[in-house]
Amino acid sequence: MASTLSLKTVPTKPFPDALAGTSGLRKKVPVFMQENYVENWLEALFFTQPPPAGKESILVTGGDGRFYSEVVIQKVMKMALAHGYKRIIVGKDGILSTPSVSAIIRERKADGGVILTASHNPGGPTQDFGMKYNISSGAPAPEGVMHAQYEHSQKLTSYTIADVPDFDISKVQTIIPFSGVTIEIIDPCDIYINLMKQIFNFDLIKSLFQRKHFKFTFDALHGVTGPYALRLFHEEFGCPVECLMNCNPLPDFGGLHPDPNQVYAHTLVERMYADSSNCPDFGAACDGDGDRNMILGNHCFVNPADSLAIIAESASECIPFFAREGVKGVARSSPTAPCVDRVAAAKSIPCYETPTGWKFFGNLMDAGKISICGEESFGTGSIHIREKDGLWAVLCWLSIIAHESNKRYPLSGSSSSSAAPSSADSSAEGKVVSVQEIMDEYWTKHGKYFIQRHDYEGVDSTKAHSLYDTLRDTLAGKSEEELKKITGDDNAKSCDVFNYTDPVDGSYSPNNGIRFKFVDGSRFVVRLSGTSSSGATIRVYYEKYSDDKAQFHKKEAEVLEPLVATFSRVSKIREITGFEKPTVIT
Ligand code: G1P
Ligand code: ZN
Repeated sequence: MASTLSLKTVPTKPFPDALAGTSGLRKKVPVFMQENYVENWLEALFFTQPPPAGKESILVTGGDGRFYSEVVIQKVMKMALAHGYKRIIVGKDGILSTPSVSAIIRERKADGGVILTASHNPGGPTQDFGMKYNISSGAPAPEGVMHAQYEHSQKLTSYTIADVPDFDISKVQTIIPFSGVTIEIIDPCDIYINLMKQIFNFDLIKSLFQRKHFKFTFDALHGVTGPYALRLFHEEFGCPVECLMNCNPLPDFGGLHPDPNQVYAHTLVERMYADSSNCPDFGAACDGDGDRNMILGNHCFVNPADSLAIIAESASECIPFFAREGVKGVARSSPTAPCVDRVAAAKSIPCYETPTGWKFFGNLMDAGKISICGEESFGTGSIHIREKDGLWAVLCWLSIIAHESNKRYPLSGSSSSSAAPSSADSSAEGKVVSVQEIMDEYWTKHGKYFIQRHDYEGVDSTKAHSLYDTLRDTLAGKSEEELKKITGDDNAKSCDVFNYTDPVDGSYSPNNGIRFKFVDGSRFVVRLSGTSSSGATIRVYYEKYSDDKAQFHKKEAEVLEPLVATFSRVSKIREITGFEKPTVIT
């Protein structure tokens, strides 16, 4: 052990493009590989967010293990030390899911966390890398923090780093490189799994896995959730490992696009729509860093907006944490269809609409205004941490299915919903309530939103901004009569731009998308992505409500066609971008 920390100061100059977007800084790997690029970002971060004095300052770091992480994680540790952090908690091999970083920050009362991920974006030498900062609540840093960081980064002339060899993070151990400084390399899963045990009834979920007819499958898409999934589904619930796909994290995600939607998680989707008696009853996938989830049933897909609403509807009945704490309120991002609004209205609890990005939920959670929230982009979560949480959502669904199955097909010798089935498991006892049944019952009660998101990826940035600005200037604030004339659609009703004032701290976030409403309550919302690593992505969200049961099984594309036609006509998207159709429809 050396007795003192020796520092190195290195001259540098600013990188004007290093501005964080919806969820941290995301760029192609070669951009991050530029000399001093990572160091600049960290210097500006640790300068503007210095470790607090007067306590043992703690930083958590880790990520989804994507390409270039092993280089960057050493820089994070060394620069955190140079800026005065006294304890660094790092996941073994640099692996920590985004939700587990948030959980560890909270559990260990850390002062912040640096997460190395570009979430659901592909990884590899020519693909994406990302860095994100979370504050001491475990939440992604608010916009103000990242703006201050960026401003400082533009004035940099040098950075400071600890002049030490790389730390060995390949095993769980505690390193004391200098007196008063600790590097703690931890098992990536322990704290997270323990937290899940406090939230859910693991015996109840285990009883579902023991039912004769329950078949489960999970796809980690070679992202970070693999080790967590093995611990939960295999070790805790007894699910055979063959049912858990792609559970070894790989730096390039095995060439997969680790985004759990029907387009990219197609192997799972094919399994769930297989024309065979082997088709699983329940399937789920998570994204690269573990904060997103997709839920599927046998021949059925659960839209994230429905998933959020169903979890909010059932939480206090099926999940011990919410039975204890209640569901105080809910929130959704603006482009997310308002399914959960109806659940909230029925329960007489508040419902908030926020801009896109998890960071906007943080204040509402800290102030005790909401318990559960979500986004259309396959993100669902609660106050247990301050990030969305893919595996938490899967456990919510398993709890709901187990609870409902126990109600309808009780297990012998038990009146309690938490009992495990007896060994004399009759065929009725083996049955499970299907995901489709849960959805149908929920639609019957609250009605159904038909929902689609159309993404136009890789659009020339100038063209995308000009389309957005022109559309806003043409439509926003116009009267119903004017809108009908401009759009040529007799159902046009109103249009505005979503400007958000945070109800907790009053902070203002303007220009979060164009919201266009039709007379029957249908909407389309248009915004530009804040996570593209190059070029621009235009996102158009469509939704239409129906409480007519006879319509529920109609195809989304058919129901939404008139809305799509109106958007295409008024935005001139084809003419401006040259795109004949969206790149991805989810
Ligand atoms: C996208 C999603 C958004 C999510 C973010 C980070 O951001 O739309 O809901 O919070 O990724 O996972 P966007 O690219 O739309 O700015
Ligand atoms: Zn993610």
